[in-house]
Order: sequence, then structure tokens, then C-alpha cells
Amino acid sequence: MKNIAIITSGGDAPGMNACIRSIVKSCLHLNIECLGIYDGFQGMIEGRAKKLTYLDVDNIIQYGGTVLGTARSEEFRTEAGRKKAISFLKSERVDGLIVIGGDGSFTGANMLSEEMDIPIIGIPGTIDNDIFGTDHTIGYDTALNTVVDAIDKIRDTASSHHRVFFVEVMGRDAGFIALNTAIASGAESVLIPEEITNVDALVQEIKESNHGRRGTIILVAEGDDAGGGMEIMNKVAPYLEGYSLRCTILGHIQRGGRPSAFDRILATRMGSLAVDLLMNGTSNCMIGVDGERLMTSPISVCIKQHSVPDMSKLGLLSRLRTKKQ
Ligand code: F6P
Repeated sequence: MKNIAIITSGGDAPGMNACIRSIVKSCLHLNIECLGIYDGFQGMIEGRAKKLTYLDVDNIIQYGGTVLGTARSEEFRTEAGRKKAISFLKSERVDGLIVIGGDGSFTGANMLSEEMDIPIIGIPGTIDNDIFGTDHTIGYDTALNTVVDAIDKIRDTASSHHRVFFVEVMGRDAGFIALNTAIASGAESVLIPEEITNVDALVQEIKESNHGRRGTIILVAEGDDAGGGMEIMNKVAPYLEGYSLRCTILGHIQRGGRPSAFDRILATRMGSLAVDLLMNGTSNCMIGVDGERLMTSPISVCIKQHSVPDMSKLGLLSRLRTKKQ
């Protein structure tokens, strides 16, 4: 193993830079060249890359985003696109690849491994935390803290105006962010894609939770089956005459910002292990964390399954609400 390439792919996540830094430092320590490919699989197709040095990763551990850039490449889904990417990797004599991203990125990595004989290690980096094979993904902890901070602020104005706020958070297919920030912020209700939303029951819940209260927060994951925050608010509005309703969509603010200490440490550990795994001849595995312990699972297994939040926490939420009444 003389030449390792890295990409960050899919939605950026805070801590990706800490991971890039860790990979580059580990490579240079072992006298391995590290090629940073820009903008994920799209940059691989277009042959845009740079040999990374200590200076390239100096002072980046504290920044969100990714210094390599990222993309969701449609072209890489085509055989022609992948052929261009493979010929670039061959021309650069890359003999190991590290992919930092989410399940779409690992699906791409898996396709690549079927068409090219190259060992690949996946590192889970997404704020959604929905990757099978790991308790935590890089960026999730920072996103949780960003959302909780925002909800604390919304709570101030919600209670001043006695309003019901629908706060929409990210999570197209997964309710991890919504569920855990609902618990951490003391929200009154939470709607997630993994549970069927009953609008009538929600109206009832709002009436009960708002009775004599100064403000109510309803967390909505963007991928909920009843719609996003605005759509759900419009569905319940006709049954809540006299209530003051508002919707806030937090959007991409959840993906940015300084990574938390947790994400920096996780990213650094995973980056360093990825290089060791390639050196030891491991291929086509994703690194995950089980409690404190790092572990690996085949990428092909991780992309076939979807991680779901612990539904028993929904019960915890309603118990909290009942206790307050
Ligand atoms: O990266 C994951 C994610 O943040 C999802 O939670 C969200 O639905 C999606 O990306 C948004 O993607 P984009 O920035 O490409 O619109």
C-alpha cells in the first residue's frame, strides 16, 4: 500500500475535516501518499485531485464542512461515469480508497468495488445517523446540539406568545435527529418517518399539552409521512381555532458549524483506523462504533439495511408530557 485516496461524498457533516486530517497524518506517518479527490465521486470522474501534505490539514479540525468539497454525483450512477473514475484511479496508481459519507456514498463505493479490484474502507459521515452498522455517524452529535440550541431559542418566543411551534428538522428517511432533540429540548410531541402520524391524535395531543401552558413545541422530521412542518401545521390548523400556530424550518443550519468534541474524537479515531485497515489488507468494510469500541462490517451488508431509532423513546416522551400536566 503506497498510495491511498480519500473522498468526502453526499451531504457534508461536521467532523469530516477532522477525519481527513487524521487520515492524512496517519498516511504521512507511515510514508504513504494521500491523494485528496475533490467533490466526491464527481471529482473522481473528472480527475480533480491533489496530493495532501501536513500543511493542507493543519488547522482544519475545528471547521465544519469539508475542505475536499462534496457532491451527489448522478454521473457516477452510470457505467460510463464509473469507467472514467476507474481509469483516473488507475492513472494515479491508487491502491486503496477511503470514502467518508452516507449510505448513497457507500452504495457508490460498493459498485466501484464490483468493477475494480481496489480495497475500500467506508467511514460513516452524515448528520442523519441512519447508517446500519454504527451507533453514531460523524456529524450527528454536532447537529443534535445545533438543533437543541435553536429550539431553546424558539421556546423563549413560543412561551412569550403562548404559541404552538412546529419545528422541522432534517431527516428524509430517518427520525434520529427529531426524536433525540425532542427529548433533549423537552418538546411536547415528535413526528418521525418510522411511525405513522395520526393527525386527529396530534390535534388532541396539542389541545391537552397546551392546556394552561405557555408554549408548545412539536418536532417534525422532514420526511414524516404526514408531510413537513408547514404541511402538518396546515392540516391541524382548522381544528385548532384560537391557537396561535407557527412553523420554523431549520434547514441547512443543521449541517454547518464547528464540530463537537465528540465528533472530532470519533472522526479522528475512525480516520486513523481506516488507514490501519488498508495497511492490514482489509477491504470493502465500513467502520462503525459500538458503545466505545470501533468495529467493522462489510459495506455490502450496511447498505442493505437501514438503522432505526429506539422507538421506546417515544413512550418516554409521552410520559414526560403526562408528568408535566
Ligand atoms: O445529508 C443528509 C441530509 O442533510 C438530509 O438530512 C437532508 O434531507 C438532505 O441531506 C438534504 O440534502 P441537500 O443538501 O442535497 O438538499
